Amino acid sequence: MKFLVLNGPNLNLLGQREPGVYGSESYDTLCASLNAFAAAHESSVTCFQSNHEGALIDQLHAAQGKFDAIIINPGAFTHYSYALLDALQAISVPAIEVHISNVHRREEFRHKSVTAPACVGQICGLGLYGYQAAMAYFLETGK
Ligand code: DQA
Repeated sequence: MKFLVLNGPNLNLLGQREPGVYGSESYDTLCASLNAFAAAHESSVTCFQSNHEGALIDQLHAAQGKFDAIIINPGAFTHYSYALLDALQAISVPAIEVHISNVHRREEFRHKSVTAPACVGQICGLGLYGYQAAMAYFLETGK
């Protein structure tokens, strides 16, 4: 399968940003491990991170017809970006939303995802493993 892994604002700072919440692994380490997991399953992964909403939307539009599945951590956009919701709904590539932290154990504003309704499902609180779990779901189910 061809995977697109999208990460939103501040996720470029993985490993430096609040390590007690997001762990000590860097964004580059995350991408390397997803590449290795994909390669071990005859698949490929394209990782993209941006702090800009429009750049993430452009990637979603361009994913149509190019990728089999999307794994998206929209960061704080999760909680208020109707534009990202619309972009996810505008394409037919299935997506899973991933959050590194358990958003339900955190501030109230993080409990609500406006983007999750456009996704197959949501994984949260499993650390970086959540991205791999999402890939495994798509590999096993093919959808
Ligand atoms: C996050 C949770 C969001 O609430 C937060 O704004 C992030 C990261 C997570 O992966 O746990 O930037 O999406």
